[in-house]
Amino acid sequence: MDRYGVVGNPVAHSLSPTIHAAFAAQVGETISYEKLPAPVDGFVATVERFFADGGRGLNVTLPFKQAAASWVDELCGDAVCARAVNTIEAREEKFVGHNTDGIGFVRDLTKNAGVEVTGRRVLLLGAGGAARGIVRPLVSLAPAHLTIANRTPEKAAALVKELGACEIELSACALRELQGRFDVVINATSAGLQGTGELMERSIVRGAFCYDLVYASANDPTAFCEWASAVARGVRDGLGMLVEQAAEAYFIWRGKRPSTNEVLSKLTARSL
Ligand code: ATR
Repeated sequence: MDRYGVVGNPVAHSLSPTIHAAFAAQVGETISYEKLPAPVDGFVATVERFFADGGRGLNVTLPFKQAAASWVDELCGDAVCARAVNTIEAREEKFVGHNTDGIGFVRDLTKNAGVEVTGRRVLLLGAGGAARGIVRPLVSLAPAHLTIANRTPEKAAALVKELGACEIELSACALRELQGRFDVVINATSAGLQGTGELMERSIVRGAFCYDLVYASANDPTAFCEWASAVARGVRDGLGMLVEQAAEAYFIWRGKRPSTNEVLSKLTARSL
């Protein structure tokens, strides 16, 4: 049986084994997919052991996405610019690193949630790893304007500079200096993990569609979704992005594209 897995720290609560098992059942395949906890300084040893034992592919989660980009032999697609890898594919002669987070995010936001981004005013909160993973796919949707706001404004400015000349208008600012109104607001900060949903004046998200890249456990909304929901046009957490990035990884590994709708509805209803 072909072996796959997810490496991270922590991975105990990862939904990836459940999602991949559902995909395999749906397309009539049998795979094994395991959780691989790795010590913070033990990423390379853990993945090398896994592949030496015949592993076919790995998903990579925090805090190892950058380490994975350094470890693979070749970067492909969005992983090249993001310099972060969430999917490793074992080919015969080499290990190839992909990043399916951006595509997963775009599919969930635009297809599953039906949110229009093209020609709209978009605000991205955060300038760390999660923001970097989705910013280029976001720019490729051609919003009219993209503002990147971060607690440390220098990092937002550096990210705008890195994006270079774009077809769209880009700006950077500090979270506390944010002004104006937006159509779509994306939270890519890790503030919610410390329980903070309030990142700025709430009037900024009035009437906007608010998307949180992290997903909630059980039936609780994320801190950001809860904070925004009183004034936002709609809120959505990152569960759909998780399912979509997994489907893309499955396609990379096995050449079959599972359908995501049923898996996402079952996860949302917590019946999977
Ligand atoms: P990740 O890989 O989850 O993006 P990261 O690269 O450490 O993690 O980035 C964390 C992001 O969340 C950063 O944009 C960080 O802001 P700073 O660059 O100013 O550190 C943001 N962040 C974390 N805690 C925050 C908080 N309490 N309030 C606002 N922003 C926060």
